[in-house]
This record gives sequence, structure tokens and C-alpha cells, in this order.
Amino acid sequence: MAHGHKSNEKVVYVGDSRVRKSGPMIPPDYSAFPGKSEVFIPNFLLKEWMVGCVALVGVLVLVMQEAAPLGYPADPTNTTFIPMPDWYFLFLYQFLKYPYVSGDTLKIFIGSIIIPGIMFGGLMLAPFLDTGKERRFYKRPIASAFMFVTLIACIHLTVVSWMHYQKELTDKNIIPEHIKREHEMEEAKKAGGGGGAAPKPAAGAQIVAQDDKGYEIYQKATCINCHAKDMKGVSGMPALRGIGDKHSKDEIMKIIKEGKGGMSKQYDDNIKKGLTAADIDALAEWLGKQKKQ
Ligand code: HEC
Repeated sequence: MAHGHKSNEKVVYVGDSRVRKSGPMIPPDYSAFPGKSEVFIPNFLLKEWMVGCVALVGVLVLVMQEAAPLGYPADPTNTTFIPMPDWYFLFLYQFLKYPYVSGDTLKIFIGSIIIPGIMFGGLMLAPFLDTGKERRFYKRPIASAFMFVTLIACIHLTVVSWMHYQKELTDKNIIPEHIKREHEMEEAKKAGGGGGAAPKPAAGAQIVAQDDKGYEIYQKATCINCHAKDMKGVSGMPALRGIGDKHSKDEIMKIIKEGKGGMSKQYDDNIKKGLTAADIDALAEWLGKQKKQ
């Protein structure tokens, strides 16, 4: 309205707190702006809906660009998994690690309910607490100081939390699951898996010797998490059908013990799962027998 208005047209500021209003707070009547207003229903609302639809379709198209990656099946025996909240909650997560808000129930209650309650409650009450007319931040020292201290504290806690997480990963030699999965996808793509889609099992290969003890062990081993019960490979992972044509028993044993490309060592994990050394030997032997007939 400030641009290009006729000089004799009266400029009316609507809803600007700098304008002191005298008298009762009566919302301005928009019929005072002929040609510059429209009815809310249906005109305005219809336009909003149309814009909303376009935005929604845009988001849908973006979402459909890439298949949603599926995580590994949850494994309660996995001790190398470090649960982490999303980045915007890292500051709260880090805060709860400090000794004065963790340990006994009262401290946990203070750390998880009372303090965040005061902080977020204060944020909600800010318009009622900070009622000064002044708009410039440097003339509102108390409110500004609270904002800066909180902001710096949040950034600091987030950074500390993230660095601690990275250190834990290097100390324990853990590759986070999503990174591992990405590597595996890359490897699978390179190996001709064709990006996420399950690679075709070796043409015509069937599971050999299903009555063997090895098949039973395979079903209990970690291998099925990635190579699937039917040995065709979970999305993007290599199939193990016909693997005997490619690797001997000893080579397979070596892959189980040392890993290969995107596959991490599996030996210890299977021992932890309750398989014995003899079981794993029988498994490798059975896999070595998986030849196309
Ligand atoms: C975390 C997922 C995962 C688990 C669990 C896993 N593998 Fe693998 N495996 C892979 C990936 C990925 C590859 C492809 C590695 C490469 O070639 O870079 C692979 C490759 C292999 C290969 C070589 C395939 C080829 O075509 O050369 C063998 C053999 C194998 N795995 C056996 C096993 C056995 C046996 C187990 C269980 C003891 C097992 N894997 C558990 C992911 C896994």
C-alpha cells in the first residue's frame, strides 16, 4: 500500500504495534479498502487451497524420487548400536547426561520435566512477560539476554553431544547403520545390483541340500538379515544361491571371519548368537555346496 498510492489517499497501517491506538481495539473494517479486499469464503480460502495442493503435489513428487530405505531388522542382542535422537533434540539429550539431572528419580524428574518445562513454558509466556513497547533487541536487555544465553547453550550442548557421539563411534569402531547401509547399496550397485532393487539370484540356482544341517544353521545365523532366508538377498544385497560356484568353503569361511567389501565380520556375532565354531564350519561347508545344478 505504501508503494504507488495516490498522494491524496489516506494510508492506514493495519496491525502495526508501533501505531498507538487510542480507544477500544476495534479491528479495521476492510470494506474501507474497496477493490483491495475479498471475501474469505470462498474466494480467499479457495486460493489458499490451490496453493496448498500445488505444494503438496511438489512434496509428494520429491518423496517419490527415492525409495525409502528399510533398516535392518531390530536386533536386541546388538550391543554396538548407539541410539541417538534427531539432531534438534541433541541439546536436550546432552543436557540429560549431566550428573545433576541424572541418577536418582528426583534428579531425572527435574532434568526431564521441570527444567524443560520452565524453558518451554517461559517461551510460551514470553509475550505476557515481556510487554514493553520497545521492539529493538538491544533495548530489551532481559529478554535478549535470555534468548542469547539459551541459543548459545543449545548450540554448545548440540556440538558437545555430536562430538561425544563421534568419539564413541571411533572408540568402539562402529559404523552407524545408515552409513553401513549406504556403503552396501553402493557396493551392490557396483556389483550390478541395480540400485536398491533386489539383484537376480544366479540364474536358475536353487537352494541345494535343504535337508542339511547347514540350512538349519543358516536360518539361525546373522546372514539372513542381509542375504535373506530364501538366499536371494534382502533389497540390494547379494544373493547366496549358487555361491559355491564362486567361492570354496574356505573362501566363504574367510568372508565370514574377515568380511568383504560392504559386509562386516560375522564370526563373533554368530558366536554371540549362540552358534558354535562347528556350526559355522558346517554353514560354510554347506554354502560351498551351493552350486547350480
Ligand atoms: C550386514 C549385512 C550382511 C550380513 C549380516 C551378512 N552378509 Fe554376506 N554380504 C553382504 C554384502 C553387502 C556382501 C557383498 C560384499 C561385497 O562383495 O562387497 C556380502 C557378500 C557375501 C559373500 C560373497 C558373495 C559374492 O558374491 O562374492 C558371501 C559368501 C557372504 N556374504 C556370506 C555371508 C554369510 C555366510 C553370512 C552369515 C554368517 C553373511 N554373509 C552375513 C552383507 C551381509
